Amino acid sequence: MSGPWWREGVFYQIYPRSFQDSNGDGIGDLLGITRRLDHLNDGSPRSLGIQAIWLSPFYRSPMKDFGYDVSDYRDVDPIFGTLDDFDHLLEEAHRRGVRVLVDLVPNHTSDQHPWFIASRSSRSDPKRDWYVWADPRNGGPPNNWRAVFGSAEKRSAWTLDPASGQYYLHHFLPEQPDLNWWNEDVRRAIDDVMRFWLDRGVDGFRIDVAHSLVKDKLLRNNPRLFAKRRPRHNWELEEVHEIHRRWRRLLDEYDDRMAVGEVSTRKLSDLVRYYGNDDELHMPFNFNFLRQPWKAERFRAVVEEWERRLPAHAWPDYTLTNHDRSRATSRYGPRNARVAALMLLTLRGTPFIYYGEEIGMTDVPIPPERIVDVDGRDPERTPMQWDATANAGFTTGRPWLPVAADAEQVNVAAQRDDPRSMFSFYRQLIALRQGSRALRSGSYRSLPAPREVFAYLREANGERYAVALNFGDAPRLVQVGGSAQVTLSTDPSHDARAVSGAIHLDPAEGAVARLA
Ligand code: GLC
Repeated sequence: MSGPWWREGVFYQIYPRSFQDSNGDGIGDLLGITRRLDHLNDGSPRSLGIQAIWLSPFYRSPMKDFGYDVSDYRDVDPIFGTLDDFDHLLEEAHRRGVRVLVDLVPNHTSDQHPWFIASRSSRSDPKRDWYVWADPRNGGPPNNWRAVFGSAEKRSAWTLDPASGQYYLHHFLPEQPDLNWWNEDVRRAIDDVMRFWLDRGVDGFRIDVAHSLVKDKLLRNNPRLFAKRRPRHNWELEEVHEIHRRWRRLLDEYDDRMAVGEVSTRKLSDLVRYYGNDDELHMPFNFNFLRQPWKAERFRAVVEEWERRLPAHAWPDYTLTNHDRSRATSRYGPRNARVAALMLLTLRGTPFIYYGEEIGMTDVPIPPERIVDVDGRDPERTPMQWDATANAGFTTGRPWLPVAADAEQVNVAAQRDDPRSMFSFYRQLIALRQGSRALRSGSYRSLPAPREVFAYLREANGERYAVALNFGDAPRLVQVGGSAQVTLSTDPSHDARAVSGAIHLDPAEGAVARLA
């Protein structure tokens, strides 16, 4: 590969609780992940062929938000294993050429973190100012800021601590108090956490809620309506960029490390600011595909706007889903999900794949008595489906979330040797991308296309691929000028088809064709 690894590689997100259990407690763990690394990349076409993984949190945690409430940033929760298990995982991943990102959760800690326990202990504790404390206002919370989780009535971002008579801020659960990012000691403490993992050899971070962190010092109320140009005082403050620049400097002290930030800003015009002058995070996640209805013009608009707005130094990225969102196959249906995968893996920009997408896993309905997440996200977090044995090969115990009812058919083992399977399709797509300079790092240009079709050209050093995606249910023709050959289609019986002048697309078909 020629460019930086994080621009040219395909990323894969692992939700550790759900990937592979190794000790029969029904919860996935680090040893389990290590055991399954061959699925991700064993150097042969049998494996998926990805270049990097992002591990959702495996740190010590009371698990109120399944690891996004950290009580010790420098240790592995016993549920997931030990630091030695982590080192072993890292070594085994690196041996396979797979880079590893860990999840950094700097906006908040768990209320069980020693920092918060100290902070809460008294108004005069030296750690008091590490969190955001404020006096009541008119007998209620200090301002009108809302938390992300919770029912509408109970959503204040403030919880009263009766012992000290003050409220503390939390943008998620009350068990996830927000750190005070105005405090230099907090900044240094998180720097130390980053160094701890970088020194261990991790290749970088996925940074949780990277656009929040800093909140208005004066704790001003938010405007009542989210009208345009009435910025909120608790998200996306200008000063957050200063922190991202600090992190970039820290990362740059090491060789070849990177960070991708969770930035759920809707407008691409705002999102692009998170690249800074190539001196902030390497990439902010672009979540805009997740917000589009299944319409060619909507996806095309996202890509075109992103391409237009990105300065030359900024590299795009795309994803179809993650541990907070419905799965692609559930959102788009099985046929369209193949088209979506083809799009994800042929665009200019780093693709992020969520575990299980490569076999077309769907959201699993959770019976009321088995719901465990505070925010309805269990359906997209169910155990990985490996084979047709009990619990899909995920655990010998009782899985923490139910296994999909269709797991006997939809699993890695069943799909491995089936050339028509989603797994085969993903493997071929990744192999095609990794073997082609044009697809990995070449230029992007939209192609004129009929209604309900999104088509584009990828090109590098004279190598040219046309990609044509039919979002509709009528057959369509996409003009490509000269002759070409279909390299890969969502319908495997069309692979290797010769094209003269135009690509023929069936309903809900996507195809990549190499132009002569
Ligand atoms: C991010 C994570 C989500 C978590 C939240 C609070 O949005 O992706 O899973 O609940 O932050 O940490």
